[in-house]
Amino acid sequence: MPTTSTNPYLPFGENKHAAWYGKDIISVKQFSRDDLEYVFGVAHEMRGMVERVGTFDLLKGKILANLFYEPSTRTSSSFTASMERLGGSVIPINEVKYSSVSKGESLPDTIRTLECYADVIVLRHPETGSAAIAAKAAKKPVINAGDGVGEHPTQALLDTFTIMEELGRLDNLTVTMLGDLKYGRTVHSLARLLSKFNNIKLNYVSPDILKMPKEVMDEVGEKGVPQAEFSTLEKVLPETDVLYVTRVQKERFEDPADYEKVKGAYVIDPDVMKAAKKEMAVMHPLPRVTEISTDFDDDPRAAYFRQMEYGLYVRMALLAMVLGKA
Ligand code: NCD
Repeated sequence: MPTTSTNPYLPFGENKHAAWYGKDIISVKQFSRDDLEYVFGVAHEMRGMVERVGTFDLLKGKILANLFYEPSTRTSSSFTASMERLGGSVIPINEVKYSSVSKGESLPDTIRTLECYADVIVLRHPETGSAAIAAKAAKKPVINAGDGVGEHPTQALLDTFTIMEELGRLDNLTVTMLGDLKYGRTVHSLARLLSKFNNIKLNYVSPDILKMPKEVMDEVGEKGVPQAEFSTLEKVLPETDVLYVTRVQKERFEDPADYEKVKGAYVIDPDVMKAAKKEMAVMHPLPRVTEISTDFDDDPRAAYFRQMEYGLYVRMALLAMVLGKA
């Protein structure tokens, strides 16, 4: 790859991060600020290549096992697209009920099986800590694509890349997270990752029963990041640079009556957004249900569809890194 690119991140070609070769990606805690800049540099390069040539042969001959024990549209298909755009191929396992999992096979055994056939494993699983268990069982790299209410590190990496692309900075930001902060794994990873930057302020807006877990707040607090909790958006919307909206995670509620109480708690629409800055970004990991009105989709601040596209480049970068090609 050229070293004379117009990449605004880091000069590409320096191989100091070959350190990622063979590594698992389990948590955002593994990424320093320096690592992040490197990922973004590679992702930027991937974007250029996709725009210029579409598909190329960086990972030709490599195979990804895409193992999803929970529903997914974006994460699963973007990993597939990433591997195929890099010239590799994919073993898709979306319906675990048709695999030996339904016969009672343990996660470590399933992982040991797949690594006989694949070079890298992407795993989504309903239990927190499952990605770490899989990584322990595997010799090949395991990438966490969501472990229950735990973490979703590749989403947080693409979220921070989106903020860079949309606002041009990751320092000096007020980020407001809205919705289901208890069960939403994306915000657990994003809050942790943002705490590595300077002059970040985090606002958490949620119903009382869906507050950000204490464990995450303690970790972020240790980094000296100011955090404040609210039940309504009004007070913090005018100062917000990034409004990160989440879906209430219906499938994680023990009592369906609790879900009914909070499901429509917040709706972002053009009227609500009149109080926000002109230059800011509204993000959402998607899928959305009712929390962002479709009337808002054409607003230039609505970044959630662009966010999905950035995810492709970030996941291409991560696959190339763990397979030693970046
Ligand atoms: C999120 C997830 O699975 O945690 N989706 C995604 O990966 N883009 C968010 C959600 O399901 O609400």
